[in-house]
Amino acid sequence: MEGTKNPTNRRATLRLLAVGGIGAVTAPLLAAPAFSPSLAWAKGSSEKSGRDALAVMHSRRSHRSYTGAAIPDEDLDRILAAAMQAPSAHDSRPWEFVILRNRETVRRIVTLIPSLIYIEKAAALILNCMNPRADATESPEINLMSMSCCAHTELLAAEALGYGAVWIGLMHEGDRAGIFKRLLGLPEKCQAFNMVAVGVPSMQIPKEDRFDPKRIHLDKWSG
Ligand SMILES: Cc1cc2nc3c(=O)[nH]c(=O)nc-3n(C[C@H](O)[C@H](O)[C@H](O)COP(=O)(O)O)c2cc1C
Repeated sequence: MEGTKNPTNRRATLRLLAVGGIGAVTAPLLAAPAFSPSLAWAKGSSEKSGRDALAVMHSRRSHRSYTGAAIPDEDLDRILAAAMQAPSAHDSRPWEFVILRNRETVRRIVTLIPSLIYIEKAAALILNCMNPRADATESPEINLMSMSCCAHTELLAAEALGYGAVWIGLMHEGDRAGIFKRLLGLPEKCQAFNMVAVGVPSMQIPKEDRFDPKRIHLDKWSG
């Protein structure tokens, strides 16, 4: 039965780390006060009207090409605030976020994972970390589902705000998750789940109609 184990007390303040330059994979995390997440912009509410939700869902595509332009902290806050509204099993909210904007750090990531060259022009990278609280009873599989909801919400929020974003897989992608864990000094039980790159898109990607009525079954499996 679903409960409401609210982890608010566990994390009175969400730790969002703006990461400074790092010279080696094993180098310690250097925190820079470059990003102070708050909901000040919302005047007591984290809501902000954006494009119509269904229109956003239909137009969202993965963007891997950005102009290199920055995006305001406020909009990054909006994306993260939306992400934290995502559903999670038993309201367990197994997520924490590392915001990566430092150019040196981004270059270091690309050196370690050359196929991610396109992230160099992203305005920000959101490393979604799976860090269930110590007394959580959810299985790793359930936590993965909750993390997916969170990451997908970031994609939709970025689209709603007019940015381009892409899901970058880390788990089950060679040693990517390990590279991020070491590079950013994630705690032992905290896993790099995925990364969402967000930026100002340098090209339009047409929306695609994927509606397929053959995949819909009425009352029982048919066909
Ligand atoms: C679980 C998952 C893993 C993904 N991993 C990557 C990835 O590592 N790199 C990447 O460029 N896109 C990745 N994507 C994005 C997909 O390639 C993309 O969503 C898919 O091709 C459909 O295109 P669209 O997002 O433009 O609709 C991933 C998406 C999901 C849901």
